Amino acid sequence: MNGRLDLLAAYPFERLARLKSGITPPPDLPHIAMSIGEPKHAPPPFVIEALRRELAKLDSYPVTAGLPQVRASFAAWLERRFKVNVSPDTMVLPVNGTREALFSFVQAIVSTSGMPSKPAVAMPNPFYQIYEGAALLAGAEPVFLNTTAGNRFQPDLDSVPAEVWKRCEILFLCSPGNPTGAVLSLEFLRHALKLAEKYDFVVASDECYAELYRDESAPPPSLLQAAVANGNTSYERCMVFHSLSKRSSVPGLRSGFVAGDPALIKPYLLYRTYHGCAMPVPTQLASIAAWDDDAHAAANRALYREKYRRVIPILAPVLDVVEPDGAFYLWTDVQRDDETFTRDLYATQNLTILPGSYLARDTRAGNPGRQRVRISLVAPVEECVIAAQRIRTFLAQ
Ligand SMILES: Cc1ncc(COP(=O)(O)O)c(C=O)c1O
Repeated sequence: MNGRLDLLAAYPFERLARLKSGITPPPDLPHIAMSIGEPKHAPPPFVIEALRRELAKLDSYPVTAGLPQVRASFAAWLERRFKVNVSPDTMVLPVNGTREALFSFVQAIVSTSGMPSKPAVAMPNPFYQIYEGAALLAGAEPVFLNTTAGNRFQPDLDSVPAEVWKRCEILFLCSPGNPTGAVLSLEFLRHALKLAEKYDFVVASDECYAELYRDESAPPPSLLQAAVANGNTSYERCMVFHSLSKRSSVPGLRSGFVAGDPALIKPYLLYRTYHGCAMPVPTQLASIAAWDDDAHAAANRALYREKYRRVIPILAPVLDVVEPDGAFYLWTDVQRDDETFTRDLYATQNLTILPGSYLARDTRAGNPGRQRVRISLVAPVEECVIAAQRIRTFLAQ
C-alpha cells in the first residue's frame, strides 16, 4: 500500500454524516440540503441536446489533448471573458472536471527527487479539500495560509517566510473562493506571480467559480490577466482551472479545462496520456456548445443573485450575513461552536449545512473555520427562503 494514503483526512461529508448519525430530525419538515456545493439549476437544454446528438461518437477513443475545435472553444471563451490571448495548440487541455485536474496536476509537477528539503505546496485555509490531498499524495508538505475576516479572506502572502517560499513548488489560489466567496484582485494576483518568479514556483489558480459573481460590472479577474499585466504573455508559472460544473450547472458532465504555461502543459499532457483521462468525444462536443454561449451563464448568475436578495434580509436580524463577491455560499460567523450549531439545526429543523472547521485545518493561529458554517445556496430559490426561515426560527428558540 502507498503509505501516503494514511495521511489523508476524512472528507468533510464523511465527518458530517458521523455528526448527524443517530439523530432523528422532525419528520414533518422535508429535508433541505445546503451542505454540498452541487449546483441544482436545470442544465441548459442545448447542452443536453448536443450531448444526445453526438452520442454515436462513443465509437472511438478520444485523444488526451482533445479535439482542435474544443481547444479553440476554450481559447475563444478566455479571450471573451478575460481579454487574454491563449494558443489553442499549446496552452490549453481538456480535463474531466477540475477536481481530477487539481489533483493530477500536482502529481505531475511536484518533484521530490534530489531536493534538499521537503517540497511545499501552499494553499488557502479553509480550502477545497483536493489541494491538500494532492499535496500529501505527491509527497509535499501542505502549508496553510489562513483566510479570515481580518485579512478579508485573502491569503497573506507576505507573512510566508522566505524559507517556505524557497521550498514551495505550487501555490494554490481560489477566486472566487470556496467557501469564503472572496475575489482576489488583479493586484493581488500580480503580486503572487512576482513571488512565483522570485522563488520559482507555479501558481495554480482555481477559477471554477469565475462566472458566478455579484457585480455584473466587476467580473473576477483571472491569473492569466495578471500575467499579461506583468508582461508575462507566455504565462510562465501559471496554470488556471476552469469548469462547466458551476458555470453551466452540469456537474455530472465532468467537463473543464486548464490553461497556462506551455512548458507546464506539455509535461502535464504526457502525464495525462499515461494516466488515461481523455474526455469522451460527445462530452467535448457538448462542452463546446456550453463554452460558446455566455447568455445561459449570465442567466444562471442572476438566479444566484436572486437567492442572496431573498435570503439575506431573512437572516440579517439573527446572523452576520453579507453577500460575497462571488460563488454561491454564505460563510457565516455563528459565534458558537460550528459543529454543535450544525447538529442542532439538523436535529430541530431538518436542514443540513457544513461546519466550517471541517473545511479548514488547525494551525498555530487556530482553525479559521471554527465558529463558521458554510451554507450553499444551491437549492431552488423558494427552498432557500424556507431554509433561511428555519434558521431564523432555530436562532429564536
Ligand atoms: C473550489 C472548487 N474547485 C474545484 C471544484 C471541482 O469542480 P469540478 O470537478 O466539478 O470542476 C469544486 C467543486 O465543488 C470547488 O468548489
